[in-house]
Amino acid sequence: MSSINISPKKGLHGTIRVPGDKSISHRIAMLGALAKGETRVEGFLMAEDCLSTLKILDSLGIRIEKTGAESLVVHGKGMDGLHEPDNCLDAGNSGTTIRLISGILAAQPFFTVLTGDASLRKRPMGRIIKPLCHMGARIWARAGDSLPPIAIKGGRLKPISYQSPHASAQVKSAILLAGLWADGRCDVKEPDLSRDHTERMLRFFGLPCRSENLTASVEGVREFSGCSYKVPGDFSAAAFFIVAALISKGSDIVIKGLGINPTRAGLLEILQRMGGRIEILDERMESGEPVADLRCISSGLRGINITGEDVPRMIDEFPVFFLAATQAEGDTLIRGAYELRVKESDRIATMAAELRNIGADVEEMEDGMLIRGGMRLKGGLCSSHGDHRVAMTMAVAGLISEEGVVVEDWECVNTSFPDFLSILQSF
Ligand code: S3P
Repeated sequence: MSSINISPKKGLHGTIRVPGDKSISHRIAMLGALAKGETRVEGFLMAEDCLSTLKILDSLGIRIEKTGAESLVVHGKGMDGLHEPDNCLDAGNSGTTIRLISGILAAQPFFTVLTGDASLRKRPMGRIIKPLCHMGARIWARAGDSLPPIAIKGGRLKPISYQSPHASAQVKSAILLAGLWADGRCDVKEPDLSRDHTERMLRFFGLPCRSENLTASVEGVREFSGCSYKVPGDFSAAAFFIVAALISKGSDIVIKGLGINPTRAGLLEILQRMGGRIEILDERMESGEPVADLRCISSGLRGINITGEDVPRMIDEFPVFFLAATQAEGDTLIRGAYELRVKESDRIATMAAELRNIGADVEEMEDGMLIRGGMRLKGGLCSSHGDHRVAMTMAVAGLISEEGVVVEDWECVNTSFPDFLSILQSF
């Protein structure tokens, strides 16, 4: 297990880029595999989670050619081009891989078994198994068909109209992907809107996908062609630097080429409402996704209340948002965020423990947290709990702490952001 040291540092300056979006990288590899012909991808995130997706596609018979540090060509074989793998498929730490691939495998006329690391094997899969079985797939899993490994015997699927109990893009996307093989229109309605990258990408490929309020729909298709795609910078990776700049006095940074999809970049608006000075520059569209450069300047933040409907739009940003709240004037209350308990770690428990360790005053709740603002953070020894976003948040905490931090069990950062430390050290 490796650990890193972060010393206190005032004033971040410079212009950076962050790697390609993780959610979008998974999706373009999968849809590229199902398309006929080449899909050329720029800005692909070469981190462990996305590499798990590539490896699984390779086991299903898809050739993927790496053409540069962040570019690849997926040689798609069309919608009936996948073949039965000769071993179990390993999704590693990646929830997006296991849940989205399950949607695709539910429609294949062969047998597959999907598994993952110790963290992934604790994450709930009943939420995708239930709707995919309604569509006609046969799926079995551990613990009453709820935990990986998952065994799938796919086949002909029928369209469903599904009311999802979760605002989850992974659930929605598993059904939409399976829906590509169904004979008719599939609808998925969610309680609040989750990230819509799958819907946008389906449309970018020219496929019949519609979004209306909280419902996404897709029509079954026979085939579609590959495309050229540019993955935007990952907002969730940038979030660590956005918060770092806002809470570290004397900072002024620019982050270039960032995806700012509103179903995803909720933290931006929340930080602005707290008084964060973030300028959105040169807004543009790339491959069907809104992209911009962001200028972030240190700011006095005010505490805020976060409720359930805000949660899906900033679901992955809570660890670093909790840290920002410790530096705000006044308290911050987060409710309706129970989903945080079923991420790579139980992020309410792990973040409450780690923030308290370094001197914050927080109260853990079943579905959220109460965070006292205006805290001076002493620093000290932190653990990632094997969760990449906890690890990177505690590194940012080190910058504004009195004595710095040591973050243990650091290597989990490689699942999403292997270059995090070198970018942090470039300021
Ligand atoms: C993701 C959806 C979210 C998010 C995850 C990536 C995706 O998960 O937390 O990091 O790519 O669809 P849920 O669908 O479980 O909310």
